Amino acid sequence: MGRKFFVGGNWKCNGTTEEVNKIVSTLNAGEVPSPDVVEVVVSPPFLFLPLVKTSLRPEFQVAAQNCWVKKGGAFTGEVSAEMLVNLSIPWVIIGHSERRLILMESNEFVADKVAYALSQGLKVIACIGETLEQREAGSTVAVVAEQTKAIAAKISDWTNVVLAYEPVWAIGTGKVATPAQAQEVHFELRKWLQANVSPEVAESTRIIYGGSVTAANCKELAAQPDVDGFLVGGASLKPEFIDIIKSAE
Ligand code: G3H
Repeated sequence: MGRKFFVGGNWKCNGTTEEVNKIVSTLNAGEVPSPDVVEVVVSPPFLFLPLVKTSLRPEFQVAAQNCWVKKGGAFTGEVSAEMLVNLSIPWVIIGHSERRLILMESNEFVADKVAYALSQGLKVIACIGETLEQREAGSTVAVVAEQTKAIAAKISDWTNVVLAYEPVWAIGTGKVATPAQAQEVHFELRKWLQANVSPEVAESTRIIYGGSVTAANCKELAAQPDVDGFLVGGASLKPEFIDIIKSAE
C-alpha cells in the first residue's frame, strides 16, 4: 500500500478563542479530498486542544505541540503523554526546531520523548532539520541522519511515526526549499532508513516537508516522489490551508 499523504497544521503559539473558532469554521467548511487520500492533523496550543477536538470535523485529527519526556508528576509547567491520551488527543509533534534551538532540546532528549510518547499510544510527528550554517557547510544530510539515528536508537516500531523534515532556514522566512532540495533530503532520509532500520520502514514511513509551505508552492513540492505531505506553520492559520490539503490529489 502506498503512503497516505499527510498534512499537518502547526498553529504554534497563536490564537484567541475567537480566532480558533474562526479557523475551525473555515476548516469545517472546506472542500477537501477524502480521508482515504489525505490525513489531516491540526495542532493548536495545549489550551485550545479540547475546544478544537470537539468542534472540528471528525475526519480531521488533532495533535499537541509537545509533551513531557516521561510519566507525569512533579514537573511544573509540563503536559504529559498520559494526559494527552486521557483527553483522546491522538498525535503529538516532538522535536520542532523551535524547541530544539530555543529550549535546547538535544537529539537524545527528543528521541526519549518520541519513545515515551509512542509507548503511551500516541502517534508522533518527529521533526528534524538543519540550520542555514549547517546547510552552507554541506552537512545537511549528516545532521538529519544524526537526528534520525538518535530516534531510531530508541524505538523499534515506526508505524506511528511521521518524520517531518523542516530546514530551519525555511521556517517562517518565506524562503521555501526548492522541490529539488526537499526531494534530495527526503530521498537521503529514506535511504538512511532503508540501510539503518529496514526496507519496510523506509518504504512505509511518511516523510513530510515543512518550511514556508503555501498554497502557491505546495503543488510542486507534493509532486516529488519522496515528499509525502507537509507540516505547515503560518499558512495553517489561513484559509489557504484548505488549498494545501488539496495538493494531496
Ligand atoms: O511546523 C511548522 C514549521 O515550523 C513551518 O512553519 O510554515 O510558518 O514556515 P512555516
